[in-house]
Amino acid sequence: MKNTVVTFVNSKKKEQKLSMLTAYDYTMAKIIDGTEINGILVGDSLGMVTLGYDSTLSVTVEDMIHHGRAVVRGVKNTLVVVDMPFMSYHNTLAEAVDNAGKIIKQTQAHAVKLEGGREILDKVKGIINAQIPVMGHLGLTPQSLNIMGGFKVQGKSEEAAKKIIEDAKLLEEAGVFAIVLECIPEKLADLVSKSISIPTIGIGSGAGCDGQILVYQDMLNMDEDFKPKFVKTFADAGLVIKEGIKKYVDQVRDGDFPAVEHTFTMKEEVLEKLY
Ligand code: KIV
Repeated sequence: MKNTVVTFVNSKKKEQKLSMLTAYDYTMAKIIDGTEINGILVGDSLGMVTLGYDSTLSVTVEDMIHHGRAVVRGVKNTLVVVDMPFMSYHNTLAEAVDNAGKIIKQTQAHAVKLEGGREILDKVKGIINAQIPVMGHLGLTPQSLNIMGGFKVQGKSEEAAKKIIEDAKLLEEAGVFAIVLECIPEKLADLVSKSISIPTIGIGSGAGCDGQILVYQDMLNMDEDFKPKFVKTFADAGLVIKEGIKKYVDQVRDGDFPAVEHTFTMKEEVLEKLY
């Protein structure tokens, strides 16, 4: 089934849970698209998991376009959302709409995602007025790392929780088709999900969300140094990859690879002329 922003909104009405993963390249996008997943997010987490930065703040619009194009080329049925990176929508409205347009034109992705609530509402509305679907993102918003004082669970106080609920309603009114809720308490995520008619996509926010998203490297255990509480290992790809590479190194060292079946032949008479 082809996933669109419309099928996302309808899924909530039908009480069908949505699943999303991140992807940053063609090969992974093709693998993910071959499953029944609903959406791929080309997250600015690419700064951390593919480029090795310690935050998402250095990621550029060009980075997002480069990776977004690769992902879209690998996809047939999955909705592709591309993150707008830090400072690409924080200045003027014109700049925000321009950058969103550039991302969609150059990647052919289906939607963009912006972090924040009331502070960026004018940008969200402007981008939607330009006919570009927008996904919201509330709770732990990694681009606000320095304001939040680190990657911490959000919405624990009454004031912070109320702000998240109100922001979710404001984003819905502005026209976003879904909202990511990152690292907020489960009960608050339940409340937010029940307060709006568009789907909430949780990460570290419990089972009451209308869908879930994870960074694929996390759920496939590809970084043994990073294991946040909210991540479950669904397959130990890190181990499988490491074992495969070790076997390769051993076989090259021992002369067992390549074998006859991996090599090409040429005619003897041609070969003789070479000596
Ligand atoms: O950048 C990202 O991967 C994200 C998800 C964690 C939701 O925003």
